[in-house]
Amino acid sequence: MAHRIVTLSGDGIGPEIMAPALEVLNALGDFQFEEHAFGGASIDAHGTALTDETLAACRQADAVLLAAVGGPKWDTTDPHAPRPEQGLLGLRKGLGLYANLRPVRPLRALYGASPLRPERIEGVDLIVVRELTGGIYFGSKTRTPDGASDLCEYSVAEIERIARRAFSLGRNRVSSVDKANVLETSRLWREVVTRVHAEEFSEIELEHVLVDNAAMQLVSAPGHFGVILTENMFGDILSDEAAMLTGSIGMLPSASLGDAGPGLFEPVHGSAPDIAGRGVANPLAMFLSAALMLRHGLAMNAEASAVESAVEGALDAGLRTPDLGGDAGTEQATRLVLDRL
Ligand code: IPM
Ligand code: MG
Repeated sequence: MAHRIVTLSGDGIGPEIMAPALEVLNALGDFQFEEHAFGGASIDAHGTALTDETLAACRQADAVLLAAVGGPKWDTTDPHAPRPEQGLLGLRKGLGLYANLRPVRPLRALYGASPLRPERIEGVDLIVVRELTGGIYFGSKTRTPDGASDLCEYSVAEIERIARRAFSLGRNRVSSVDKANVLETSRLWREVVTRVHAEEFSEIELEHVLVDNAAMQLVSAPGHFGVILTENMFGDILSDEAAMLTGSIGMLPSASLGDAGPGLFEPVHGSAPDIAGRGVANPLAMFLSAALMLRHGLAMNAEASAVESAVEGALDAGLRTPDLGGDAGTEQATRLVLDRL
């Protein structure tokens, strides 16, 4: 039976990288794709970034593949105007996707594209485990003429489940990142992570790192990290930083998972409105996100590895899109990867 995938191409370069990703998937199995307007495209069509109908379709699917949302057209500081990002946040919350996995494994062929020296990047193989449905992103927000506030809240249960995810990845070191010297939520975070570790995963090495120090170590000694376990906002920031270890944020995929139901798979990069429509977007993070969908969403491990090897092979053969300092377009990049599948 065909796997039912809801595709959300979204905005900017979204549609340009989604189409080739579907070509890659079609080369590997039997899929039934159902596209829905999402983000800015959905605001234009329906007045909201995520309609009830789209959310319902996602719930019914085997997996959700998303490209990117947002763009200057919908940028606003008006708290009452719809914003594309609300679609993404609504989807994460609506599907219960509390665990965001962002693997960072720089490929040898791209060592030269990283702003760090090759000897720093050598052997880096880390994964950011970001809590995705709590914290300051989802706390109540206020706005008055004189000020504004965003509340950061975490429950014990929310911290326990993301900690279990991180420890269950089977790596030998987990670095839990917080700001326990300042924030009450971070002190709770540290306490709960420490207890889950002691009770269930004491064979794994656990360390606690303050977020500012983690940001520094990510560039001074990235090879130190195995799993970076952290809350929503810190994970957002650190994962963009970690992405640059690979040479370009255009290389980083992500998987967002709940306890049951479909997962959401998307590149970490945004909709890149500045290059949209020119055929130069790097589709590799999208392909690698499709690979994560195959592995984590559809239990198609061999096919997932095939996509990852094809991407690596294409880069080894010299493929470089503009973000990696080359001039290959989206189509050429796609062909080079498809040739190796
Ligand atoms: C990400 C993005 C989103 C986030 C934005 C687009 C809301 O930056 O997935 O990292 O902050 O989570
Ligand atoms: Mg981000």
